[in-house]
Amino acid sequence: MKTQEIIPAEGGRNFENRRNFLTKTGLLIASGIGVTGFLGSCGGEKGGDEDVTTNEDLMREHGVLKRILLIYDEASSRLTTGKDLNLSLVGQAATLIKTFVEDYHEKLEEDHLFPRFEKAGQLADLTKTLRIQHQKGRILTGRIITNAKKTNLTSDDKKAMAQDMQAFVRMYSPHEAREDTVLFPALHKIISKHEYDSLGEDFEKKEKEQFGGDGFDMAVDKVTEIEKGLNIYDLNLFTPNV
Ligand SMILES: [Fe+2]
Ligand SMILES: [Fe+2]
Repeated sequence: MKTQEIIPAEGGRNFENRRNFLTKTGLLIASGIGVTGFLGSCGGEKGGDEDVTTNEDLMREHGVLKRILLIYDEASSRLTTGKDLNLSLVGQAATLIKTFVEDYHEKLEEDHLFPRFEKAGQLADLTKTLRIQHQKGRILTGRIITNAKKTNLTSDDKKAMAQDMQAFVRMYSPHEAREDTVLFPALHKIISKHEYDSLGEDFEKKEKEQFGGDGFDMAVDKVTEIEKGLNIYDLNLFTPNV
């Protein structure tokens, strides 16, 4: 079994991380993230050797968000056209948004990035809008999670859910693109190289604290599982026939 292979016999940091995960993050299990899948993802624990920089860290988290936007796109289209849709997959996607994007990634931006720009008097209008959009996103996510739990969705529920997912996609596509192309690159202009490097290390620490291991790997595993459940995992599906 994969799980047995990767749990070290001796005590140590890896073991401690996994133990913390098992005891602390019931939320991941509740959201449908299998323990085996998560443990498997911990096999290559992120450490010094991987050397992920601050912006790379934030941008690959955006990659996970982008994949969930694709899931929302597909799910909302199935709801509006009356095609079959496993609602629990939508609930899992929205819960991943909550645990990984809202409670982790956005929290990093709100606590560590936006205040630095505000203090430097740079991109103030942009950070204000980004903060507002985080709040609006949380409202939409809460509603999507609530609707996904319903056993008998009325046509009004389906319509509302599809609209909430579409509104989320509509807002977050430009939101994350603006952060990638304007906010994150500007970080280099307002902080020193040393501060930039230590910020990346702080992010790593927070990720381990919050997820008891590598939250990014866990999120990629989860998003892959949801894509497979919706039959949209195969990248070839998106190649145009030209
Ligand atoms: Fe953001
Ligand atoms: Fe972001």
